[in-house]
Amino acid sequence: MAKEKIVKSNTVSNEHGASMDRIVSLCKSRGLVYPSSEIYGGLSATWDYGPLGVELKNNIQEAWWKEMVRRHDNIVGLDAAIMMHPRTWEASGHVENFSDPLVDCKKCKTRFREDHLQEKWTEKNITDGSCPECGGELTEARQFNLMFTTHMGSVVDSGSLIYLRPETAQGIFVNFKNVVDTSRVKIPFGIAQVGKAFRNEITTKNFIFRTCEFEQMEMQYFVKPGTDEEAFEEWKAKRMAWYVERLGIKPDRLRFHEHDHKELAHYAKVAFDIEYEYPFGWQELEGIHSRTDYDLKRHGEFSGKEINYLDPVDNTRFIPYVIETSAGLTRSVLVALMDAYHEEKIGIDKNGKDDIRTVLHLHPDIAPVKVAVLPLVKKDGLAELAQKLEKKLREDLATFYDQGGAIGRRYRRMDEVGTPFCVTIDYDTKEDHTVTLRFRDSMEQIRIPMEGLADRIRKEIRSYKRI
Ligand code: GAP
Repeated sequence: MAKEKIVKSNTVSNEHGASMDRIVSLCKSRGLVYPSSEIYGGLSATWDYGPLGVELKNNIQEAWWKEMVRRHDNIVGLDAAIMMHPRTWEASGHVENFSDPLVDCKKCKTRFREDHLQEKWTEKNITDGSCPECGGELTEARQFNLMFTTHMGSVVDSGSLIYLRPETAQGIFVNFKNVVDTSRVKIPFGIAQVGKAFRNEITTKNFIFRTCEFEQMEMQYFVKPGTDEEAFEEWKAKRMAWYVERLGIKPDRLRFHEHDHKELAHYAKVAFDIEYEYPFGWQELEGIHSRTDYDLKRHGEFSGKEINYLDPVDNTRFIPYVIETSAGLTRSVLVALMDAYHEEKIGIDKNGKDDIRTVLHLHPDIAPVKVAVLPLVKKDGLAELAQKLEKKLREDLATFYDQGGAIGRRYRRMDEVGTPFCVTIDYDTKEDHTVTLRFRDSMEQIRIPMEGLADRIRKEIRSYKRI
């Protein structure tokens, strides 16, 4: 077996962070995220996930599921329907309370959220309270419900009105009794769910940050009243740690923000956001809410069913309190991309200019492609050898095969989509069955035997530390 040796290593310098424009253009050009129905001019605030984008999104979802459901023996999963009985949303308080204050410009007809106006006025140095777009007069604020409505069945009347769920959580609350009766869970326990949610947002901007159709990863943790504060602190710490340790997000770009009285949602007693420092400022990534017994109690009242829990230890009956962790899946995709994006000077090109590489330092667990297999040249049987290796690796690793163009350019293409490992097959491979393994972050290259390559890559993934 050939001995492992370092054959090339480059240092990294001259850092440039991500801007929204760069991320949007990278996402489009590399098949991560496209504007939705683009051939018809697109539909505002809706986006489609391309071949690499869907891999990234699925990987984040899988990492979350593994963390919440697999690593906790007291958390179970659920997949509830998007369309629910309309009484659900009366009980939950969304029909009455889930609205934003809306203001229209009488001249250009642009709509604004009243609570976002001050920021826009400050941005544009406007002191007379006029429209930030055209200077026109604004209407008084009115409440605008964020739920999308549709009709079920062939007759369109008030009896057929239903809503697209604005949060996945209610699917969990209405199934609380089903889960307790059928799955031997004991308090404290959680129910986790990932799925689509819809909100008719007044202002949608910043790419996939705030959209009308998005995905959430939510977990409702049911506890005995009186133990809720302790559980709240526990989940705050666990959720923050997940972003750092499992998604590889830089800790100094994350912080907690406690909701003041005005910010609290109608169901929340206490709420903390995990915020990320986006290029447009600190904004929410995940909400952690203490919802008390609000939801279960209301569903009990509105459905006429008894929704409570019989404690087998002391035989007492109570309505559990709920700690909710509510993360945005699509928003996590944005954060993962922003946080990983880097432009690095790695030398001087042949025209004497800075040679800059764009790289996504994604945690390998969530990288869309784990390993690219690249024959140095197509001829002399190297392509066939590389294809054979790629076929073997793809059994349990997400792979990509690329034989087109100079090897350096192929490495750069893989860096741009965050592929952590490249394997190059060359003439020596034919002789001694060794390959070059290249590491994305350090650009270090080592020569190792082809045998055991998959194990080596899996080991590298397990021990990955972001530089
Ligand atoms: N069940 C509680 C709940 O829905 P939220 O704070 O309104 O709480 C939770 O939403 C998370 O869902 C947010 O932290 C964000 O990541 C994501 N989210 C909410 N609205 C969104 C939107 N319009 N577009 C994308 N993600 C959104």
